[in-house]
Amino acid sequence: MATFQNPTPTIVSGPWTREARERAVAQEVKLAYIEYFRKAVKSRNWIPWDDLPLKEMTEYGPKLSEDTVTLIQSFLGVEDYVGDYVLDALNTVHGRRERRNLQLQWGAEEAKHAEAWELVLLHSGVRTEEQLEAYRDQVAEHHWSMGENHPGFDTPLGLAVYAMVQERATYFNYDELRKRIRAEYGLPDQATAEERQRGQQIGAAGAFKIVANDEIAHHGMFLRIVDIHKKYFPYETLDMVLRVLKGFNMPALYILPDEENMKAALERTQLYTPLKHGRSVANPVLDALGFDNKRALERAVQQSKLLPIGLGPEHVAISRSGEFVVSMDTDTSEANATPVA
Ligand SMILES: [Fe+2]
Ligand SMILES: [Fe+2]
Repeated sequence: MATFQNPTPTIVSGPWTREARERAVAQEVKLAYIEYFRKAVKSRNWIPWDDLPLKEMTEYGPKLSEDTVTLIQSFLGVEDYVGDYVLDALNTVHGRRERRNLQLQWGAEEAKHAEAWELVLLHSGVRTEEQLEAYRDQVAEHHWSMGENHPGFDTPLGLAVYAMVQERATYFNYDELRKRIRAEYGLPDQATAEERQRGQQIGAAGAFKIVANDEIAHHGMFLRIVDIHKKYFPYETLDMVLRVLKGFNMPALYILPDEENMKAALERTQLYTPLKHGRSVANPVLDALGFDNKRALERAVQQSKLLPIGLGPEHVAISRSGEFVVSMDTDTSEANATPVA
């Protein structure tokens, strides 16, 4: 019986028309999707109702502060817009099958997060079933869309760039909240030897660890999509990264029913400040995309505008300071280039 292996991308040299670039992106994104899906289903799968330490949440629940509870509830609200995020994304990437499939798998994972936060609030004894139902009904009264909340980012590329930053920010927030919960439980930041041995952190901290792990995987997946675009559409991609970094806001915060309480809790706890965003979200994103700092990205945006049309990724390298290095070793003239099949 034949065994099927992953197809490998065919490297074809120019001419690099827009269509050829789009096709190369689609081919590489498809491989990224297969790899992502395989890992997500085989090694990162979990079930909110079965795999979280619910009994411990009940035991440790009274230790949680009011601000922590408020923040968990707001994250329940943000995650509960998952239907809108998926709907919006599917419309935006319409016609791109590989992107559609990625968004579907991503959405299936995101849908578990609101359920996890509901379980945390319920089993910690800080919210009743009725309160949670009423809160989630209020959340559902609003509708989120990228175009309305983050105008200009509602394109297939903008979506990937925004998600890359947002997932990193969400990971940061959940990891900070996990540490805050642990401090309130009377535990150190990181897992104790006993927790490591059993493979799960205690109570609500265990839930935050699992969900944060999903978020950083999402960040990695969108980063890869952005990297693929950067290779074939350097100017458009880098310009979008710069725009998203400049205008970034977490999704749906401003349509939450408990917006005022959440803002006050954020202010008091200093969980997520502009300084922390720069240090723990924007800078790691820039670093992962191969830039020393924002200045380097700005330089790269300016320089990428000047790249000769038709120059393929095989001729271009970008330095960490944002300078483009163009190699003309390979003949790029149309007469000698192999057309993209
Ligand atoms: Fe999430
Ligand atoms: Fe996520």
